[in-house]
Amino acid sequence: MSSSASLRTQRAKVYDLVVVDDDPAQIQLVTDILDGQAFKIHGANDPQAGLDLVAKVRPAIVLLDLVLPGISGMELLERILEIDPAIDVILVTGSYSTESAVEAIQKGAYDYLTKPLPLERFHQKLDKWLADAQAKERSQALESELLGAFQLEGIVGRGPAMLEVFSKIRRVAPHFHTALVTGESGTGKESAAKALHQLSPNPSGPFVVCNCAAIPENLFESELFGHVRGAFTGALQDKRGYVEAASGGTLFLDEITEVPLTVQAKLLRLLQNREIQRVGSSRTAQIDLRIVAATNRDLRGLVADGKLRDDLYYRLSMIEVRLPRLADRREDLPLLERHFLDRFAARYKKPTLTLSRRAQAMISSYAWPGNIRELENVIGYACMMTESDTIDLRDLPDYLHANVSPGPTEEEVLVSMRNMELRHLHRVLEHVGGNRGKAAEILEISRTTLYRLLEEEKRNAKSSPPSVQV
Ligand SMILES: Nc1ncnc2c1ncn2[C@@H]1O[C@H](COP(=O)(O)OP(=O)(O)O)[C@@H](O)[C@H]1O
Ligand SMILES: [Mg+2]
Repeated sequence: MSSSASLRTQRAKVYDLVVVDDDPAQIQLVTDILDGQAFKIHGANDPQAGLDLVAKVRPAIVLLDLVLPGISGMELLERILEIDPAIDVILVTGSYSTESAVEAIQKGAYDYLTKPLPLERFHQKLDKWLADAQAKERSQALESELLGAFQLEGIVGRGPAMLEVFSKIRRVAPHFHTALVTGESGTGKESAAKALHQLSPNPSGPFVVCNCAAIPENLFESELFGHVRGAFTGALQDKRGYVEAASGGTLFLDEITEVPLTVQAKLLRLLQNREIQRVGSSRTAQIDLRIVAATNRDLRGLVADGKLRDDLYYRLSMIEVRLPRLADRREDLPLLERHFLDRFAARYKKPTLTLSRRAQAMISSYAWPGNIRELENVIGYACMMTESDTIDLRDLPDYLHANVSPGPTEEEVLVSMRNMELRHLHRVLEHVGGNRGKAAEILEISRTTLYRLLEEEKRNAKSSPPSVQV
């Protein structure tokens, strides 16, 4: 058999495969075909023994007879995936039915085959499975490796957009006095500011965060620049502000647009001359610090509206690090997933965690309006919830399920034109209650063509039942 050649050459790793079938001959058959090559075969004759075996062996694949005494195959499928959602379950059934194939795939089965096992195709499938499994292992190892290479001071990214950000941070960090970091909420502005600080000539200086949105307008000047005793009611003693606290290091001014107009002139003076005056003092102090301002708003628009001084705007925006939305850099998702999985696994003292194929698909198709912060929260939640080493759909927060329209699966897309045609034909037939005349009319084909298509389908089904026809 041609396809067995590659099975035989794969000696690197042996995968456990459990066959659950009430027919011992079937178990024997699979053992004869596969055992000792890339797979170690284990057999169980009844559902309970099958479940026990699956729980004990934690196989990579389960070959499951759909018609077993005492329990429906679908139910057993669900129970197996509850034990470990990473298991690839291949359902085997005596007679092909589109409904059960669809149901099986929807319930998370890996594949669907008919008995008697079509040997050639069974081999091909396992060959493909093996290639996929090996590719997945390689890519996981690669991701861990890449994680080392593709991060800058804790900022992870490997797509062109983030590599550009890294390059900018590296070029700017040694020299800048003032920099602006822009991007939506959760894109990593504060992280970028920290990286700018870490890569500056004086990383051991303080990194001080000042959230401008959290300071009441009347206190702004004193919070930022400090005050002297008696400067205003309640100023009982001298106090230094954020700027002095950051002396010798970096001041991160988050939400810079919230600085009141009345304070903007003084801020500009700081940016230009590194000079401040405490409120109530006539002394000017020289402060050596770097300033990183951040905003998620459009500064130009604020200038036009008179909310931001234009001279301050020009000063701020000379050096800008712009962070892309997560939705615009989905190529970074696998690496970010790995990064957060590792972090939370360590935090919750769990073994290495991975995402099931379905969970990964759900994460890929979500829009991530909250950007990396939201991804971090979701993966943190899933790591906490999961009871197995593989995070599955049920471990992801409910709102994600509601907001995702999972794209079509590979099985749904990689279909021949002929198959697509037949699917459509059956959908129309169903809609018109099986009325072939009406269906032909809607399809704009002759009745004879319709009959011919159905006949052909029957003939093909007899000679080689389709393995999955969703
Ligand atoms: N590229 C990245 N790689 C890894 N973690 C990131 C990255 N960007 C942001 N984070 C994490 O996401 C969260 C939000 O980032 P933060 O810098 O606070 O965003 P912002 O200031 O833009 O709202 C933080 O916990 C941060 O550590
Ligand atoms: Mg922030």
